[in-house]
Amino acid sequence: MLRKPHQICRVSPELEHIQAIEDIREFVKNEKAEIEQTINNIGLTLRRAELKDFSGIRQLLCKRFNPDTAAQISFYDAYRSIRHGYTMVLEDKDGQIVGYDYSLGYDDDDKTSFGLNIAIHPDWAGYKLKTIVSIYTSLLGMERGSRIRRGIVHPNNLISLHNLLNNTGFLCEHFYGYLPGFESSRFILSFSLTPAGLMNNRIDMDKLLDYINVAKEGEDYKLVECDDEPALEEMYNSTTFRVVAFVREGALTEKNLLFAVPHELMNFPPSSIYQAPIG
Ligand SMILES: CC(C)(COP(=O)(O)OP(=O)(O)OC[C@H]1O[C@@H](n2cnc3c(N)ncnc32)[C@H](O)[C@@H]1OP(=O)(O)O)[C@@H](O)C(=O)NCCC(=O)NCCS
Repeated sequence: MLRKPHQICRVSPELEHIQAIEDIREFVKNEKAEIEQTINNIGLTLRRAELKDFSGIRQLLCKRFNPDTAAQISFYDAYRSIRHGYTMVLEDKDGQIVGYDYSLGYDDDDKTSFGLNIAIHPDWAGYKLKTIVSIYTSLLGMERGSRIRRGIVHPNNLISLHNLLNNTGFLCEHFYGYLPGFESSRFILSFSLTPAGLMNNRIDMDKLLDYINVAKEGEDYKLVECDDEPALEEMYNSTTFRVVAFVREGALTEKNLLFAVPHELMNFPPSSIYQAPIG
């Protein structure tokens, strides 16, 4: 199971024991109910997307992403993830879509649950809605039997890196300096879809900074600047270090940094070690 070192994570030990199917079902049911309540409490509704939501979602997507990135999400993606996946929308009291998470599952060896694309309206920033909604869709994946949640992010999308690596628990399984179609670099993200995989991989920044003080740089961990793509490429191609946390500018240095540890510490399954070649 993909796990970050517990020395840098917020860990609830009791979650490690939730392994039986019926206990996992109970966990998913309770966590979903809690998220629905949290969202209701701020005056929004979280519901499954329907085809009629396409234009509302598209409007928000075009508002939140630049035209090139927005163009990468086709109507085919939308149709498949609404009709056959588990795309969720956030709706305000006037019926406007103020958030969405395109999510769907695949029949590969990991039965991957994929978070295709997510955005939150800027009027609703500050409520951690990205983290909350993507945890909800991850729970839906777990409910359907997916074993690994995956996603894609650009190494300079700082807010997303913070949300995905520190608040949600993803790690960066692969780095592509150039991903065809995206026409630039991307990380492929993943975490194990178990209660402990979902909840116990989140970063405790105080613990992380303590760890940096006592551990050996270059052996136990490495730090790379977010915009140093040649260094990221060299690390992913020639070492087993993999990025697990984001350290915001000001916390350690004046740069935004990515914190990496060797994958041997994290029980990478074969599917996570294999990086599909380009070219
Ligand atoms: C990314 C996005 C979905 C986040 O929306 P959100 O959940 O409303 O975000 P919030 O305002 O609640 O902020 C969440 C966290 O980001 C942090 N954050 C904000 N600005 C940041 C920055 N410049 N660098 C790092 N972290 C930042 C906040 O401090 C907060 O973390 P905390 O709660 O741990 O302190 C939203 O900004 C968006 O739609 N962006 C455009 C589309 C996009 O990038 N989608 C994701 C693609 S992977």
